[in-house]
Amino acid sequence: MMQQKFAVTAGRNSGLQWQARVWAQGFGVPYLRRGRSGSLEELCQKHNVSALLVATKLGPQVFTEEGRFFFHPSMADLRLKHVAAGESDHLIEALALKPGMKVLDCTLGLASDAIVASYAVGAAGKVVGVEASPLLAFVVARGLACYETGRQDVDAAMRRIKAVHARADDYLMNVSPDSFDAVYFDPMFRFGVKTSANMKPLRPLAYEKEVNAEIIELALKAAPRVVIKERSESFLRSLGCTEIQGGRYSRVKYGIIRR
Ligand SMILES: C[S@@+](CC[C@H](N)C(=O)[O-])C[C@H]1O[C@@H](n2cnc3c(N)ncnc32)[C@H](O)[C@@H]1O
Repeated sequence: MMQQKFAVTAGRNSGLQWQARVWAQGFGVPYLRRGRSGSLEELCQKHNVSALLVATKLGPQVFTEEGRFFFHPSMADLRLKHVAAGESDHLIEALALKPGMKVLDCTLGLASDAIVASYAVGAAGKVVGVEASPLLAFVVARGLACYETGRQDVDAAMRRIKAVHARADDYLMNVSPDSFDAVYFDPMFRFGVKTSANMKPLRPLAYEKEVNAEIIELALKAAPRVVIKERSESFLRSLGCTEIQGGRYSRVKYGIIRR
């Protein structure tokens, strides 16, 4: 992720200009008034910013050249329907999640994995999700706090997640040893893989740095089990993963390192 130059604005007829001003002040970035006409793209060009945080009646959205990014737990919701029906989930298996466990998700993103993890560890457990992109962290933290899926157990799982805006290495350097049972990484953009439709708008906002030996070492101090989601098994082995899980027909693999 480049250092993103962004500003804040409001949906034209949203009546949320006050909200956008408050957010702009919080971030220390400009608030941009919408004229009577003109697209968000034009507003970006005029003010030389690559992203806009937009206050809308549906909550905060981020506009970039790749489209609009907003919080939607649909992927997690679908996965949890399968879990509730007794099916297995790769993430739950790779992290060996049980009620009461504490999980650190170092790459929160859209929080789909974090929601599934939070559901699996239940009210007695804990999920902390760390996200390096300030705009993503902002939108997702609000979504987790406010979005209503219509399913009480899924909403409760979302509300329990603690979303933190930080780089994972900085966060890991400051946690006490053994604060968690498992640490999870899903950076996923290493080879510029063709991203799925719901990930596309996330891409220009995302922080991109490979998982490396240093961060794994920090993660192994924080928890006895570290799981990395990746496509390349050889890369996972090079990081020290001794066990690789994943669907037979899926390109996605989960590499596991145990302390
Ligand atoms: C592929 S997405 C993760 C998707 C997530 N697992 C989900 O289920 O929605 C990767 C996210 O991790 C963030 N990220 C990558 N490396 C990071 C790091 N070292 N610290 C914090 N966030 C990081 C990116 O900004 C991006 O939002």
